[in-house]
Amino acid sequence: MTAPTTPAGPPASVTTAPAPDVDADLADGLAADFEATVARGDRIEPRDWMPEKYRATLVRQVAQHAHSEIIGMQPEGNWITRAPSLRRKAILLAKVQDEAGHGLYLYSACETLGVSRQELTEKLVSGKQKYSSIFNYPTLSYADVGTIGWLVDGAAICNQVPLCRTSYGPYGRAMIRVCKEESFHQRQGYELLSTMMRGTDEQRAMVQESVDRFWWPALMMFGPPDADSPNTAQSMAWGIKRDTNDELRQKFVDMTVPQAAALGVTLPDPELRWDEERGHHDFGSPDWDEFMTVVKGGGPCNAQRIAHRRAAHEDGEWVRDAALAFAARSREQVRA
Ligand SMILES: [Fe+2]
Ligand SMILES: [Fe+2]
Repeated sequence: MTAPTTPAGPPASVTTAPAPDVDADLADGLAADFEATVARGDRIEPRDWMPEKYRATLVRQVAQHAHSEIIGMQPEGNWITRAPSLRRKAILLAKVQDEAGHGLYLYSACETLGVSRQELTEKLVSGKQKYSSIFNYPTLSYADVGTIGWLVDGAAICNQVPLCRTSYGPYGRAMIRVCKEESFHQRQGYELLSTMMRGTDEQRAMVQESVDRFWWPALMMFGPPDADSPNTAQSMAWGIKRDTNDELRQKFVDMTVPQAAALGVTLPDPELRWDEERGHHDFGSPDWDEFMTVVKGGGPCNAQRIAHRRAAHEDGEWVRDAALAFAARSREQVRA
């Protein structure tokens, strides 16, 4: 094999940087290509040029989504050791493990945007990046496992099915698998609640009490009303989001009301009624002050969730060190 020849550098008098107008033409061309790709409904891939704000918006959204999957393991994980039967325990274990997998796919998708896993973890535990406010509420009874599956995973499905068509390739592809698993999560929740509703009066009361606590926080999962959601229009123009917060919330309510009737539970909203003219259910407004308090860290479990995540990260340091040492030794053995 011959040694590669070193290409001769340009003469000192010639500059390698393109002239300013060539630079501007190149930037215009790249932006036009990006816009055309999004307009055709094609995917933007990690090596494609993208506007910096598009990248930053995606990092924020995908990171928040990944963090929600990982923090979301805690409220239900709380019940694994106290599941009422081996069958329920196996279902709950599988579900919580799925959420860990969702977090991993999404962290990987986020890393393709040029951020490291380490950076993402630090931003989560320092509170610089958020996760879904629903996971800052406590789980007080086993019925909460069912309600979370039915309402929280149900809301997640409404949010996430349109994301399978999102414009950023790695995010959309991760969502396809995530959504298949979310459907199982919703069904296992509904099945648990329907079993309890066919049980004793005490079990029925547990279900109703749980639904009363989770209904409004579940509606908040879609984010603030469209009028107070300044990023929605840009995210929709870029094909990151496909529906507005209010559209998704309406879809969720319309989907859930008949399921509540079939279960025999009451949704705690006196304003909830079918509107013949609109062809949708009317419903009351969640307490947006409570939402903002929880988002800003003042929910019942914010501090506990982050403290637990930080402790798990610190406890896992020896695993990361061992994996790095093993990788270094394996490289050395290949070289030797
Ligand atoms: Fe999930
Ligand atoms: Fe889930």
